[in-house]
Amino acid sequence: MALTLSTRTGDATGATADALIVPVHAGEDPAGGLDGRFDGQLAPTLAAAGFAGKRGEATAVPTFGRLPARWLVLAGLGAREGVDGEALRRAYGAAVKRARDGGARTVAAQLPADAGADAVRAIVEGLSLALYRFTRYKTGEAATPAKAVAAIELWGAAEVPQDAIERGRAVAGGVALARDLVNTISDDKTPPQIAEWARRVADEAGLACRVLDRAQLAAGGYNAILTVGKGSAAEPRLVELTYTPPDGAAAAKTVALVGKTITFDSGGLDLKTAEGMYTMKTDMGGGASVLGAMQAVAALRPGVKVIGILTAAENMPSGTAMRPSDVVTALNGKTFEIGNTDAEGRMVLADAVTHAARAGADEIIDLATLTGAKMVALGATAVAAVGNDQALTDRFLAAAAAAGERVWPLPTWDEYKDQLKSDIADLKSTGGRGAGAITAGLFIGEFVEGKPWLHLDIAGSAATDQDGPYTPKGGTGVMVRALLRYLEDAGR
Ligand code: BES
Ligand code: MN
Ligand code: ZN
Repeated sequence: MALTLSTRTGDATGATADALIVPVHAGEDPAGGLDGRFDGQLAPTLAAAGFAGKRGEATAVPTFGRLPARWLVLAGLGAREGVDGEALRRAYGAAVKRARDGGARTVAAQLPADAGADAVRAIVEGLSLALYRFTRYKTGEAATPAKAVAAIELWGAAEVPQDAIERGRAVAGGVALARDLVNTISDDKTPPQIAEWARRVADEAGLACRVLDRAQLAAGGYNAILTVGKGSAAEPRLVELTYTPPDGAAAAKTVALVGKTITFDSGGLDLKTAEGMYTMKTDMGGGASVLGAMQAVAALRPGVKVIGILTAAENMPSGTAMRPSDVVTALNGKTFEIGNTDAEGRMVLADAVTHAARAGADEIIDLATLTGAKMVALGATAVAAVGNDQALTDRFLAAAAAAGERVWPLPTWDEYKDQLKSDIADLKSTGGRGAGAITAGLFIGEFVEGKPWLHLDIAGSAATDQDGPYTPKGGTGVMVRALLRYLEDAGR
């Protein structure tokens, strides 16, 4: 069920849609200037009910024939001076769900009078993302819910920029793909299945795609990935997708996006608890966001070359599984001792970032559901960043903020690296009790071959157990918007 988006110029009040969305600001008329249509009854009723147009607040009012639309949905933007992209995403996202709950199939949405291209893009993102649903494992009526919005008209005071709509749709499509991947069960996304999925995405988007299977990984010396995968009946894969700008010679630089793609993390022989294991189908959230971003990159066409890399492996306990205390020689020749088989993410990423450096990346950004320690430090609210290049970190933080996604940097002082010493190998994969999110990141940094690098720990942020204004329960597609904004800025 594809959502149709169209544009109109003028006042949406007279639109013949099932629901009309009108933006309102905190501290101003809560009825959005439509009080006159309701005999002066609407504003006081809304005020009495406590609706104040706060950021992300939405309320639906039946119109009883006062307007062509059956429902009037008021979308709160908060105070006028504080309106940013995130306020728009939340307000229109919350509002369109109210419209859907009211049974609306068609929606007319009035844009704020001053909405520019960035605002329109954010609104399209909010509308599309809020309507996301995952029904793959439902049957009957639940598989195709009766309440569904099929078409949205965007009404602008001036002509609505088409490019902004297309960009917003591309971004939302990338986020939705990442959500689908995370929500899919591990039995349907084994490493070979992930590789096939990525190949389909690449073919449809017009991206180059290369898959290294187990034999090729062995021949190439990708021992860290192979070691993680060897406890599973499903073979590991390394997937590489490449986007080249339309005028290839003009590429400003090459950015590699590397996603941890553990299709299920049981912990291995250092087995997780039942509670800790239950959510571990989401341990490929990094790879999901990379694949989602790559699909959107093909539509956004930034002026940089982008290499997307997924390290698909399943971490299982078995007679062929890796052992704690085993020593592995990674792709770049460094040896490390396995401190705990549940620290598998940094292992697959070690080989993958070396692969990225050798593939010609000028800078490397890795995304990983890497540590429980990140959850303790920042919760699900923010993503943790660890890097070796302040300029890259600063650029990414700015892009994430512009995209409405929260990222917070962690320190990387040398003392933390000392925690990764091993008695018998170059490194140990675990760094002991303290600063777990930092030492995990710094371990990956040992394999980037001196390239500018930024690690994003998305543990706890790749999936949510709470419905948000435009993010339903399940996979979130975290960092897809930040990555895309970063790549667009880098190519300007
Ligand atoms: N995939 C987990 C991290 C994780 C935990 C992500 C909870 C999302 C929610 C990772 O592979 C892991 O198990 N990390 C261990 C590392 C430890 C053994 C050094 C952890 O954080 O406990
Ligand atoms: Mn683990
Ligand atoms: Zn893991």
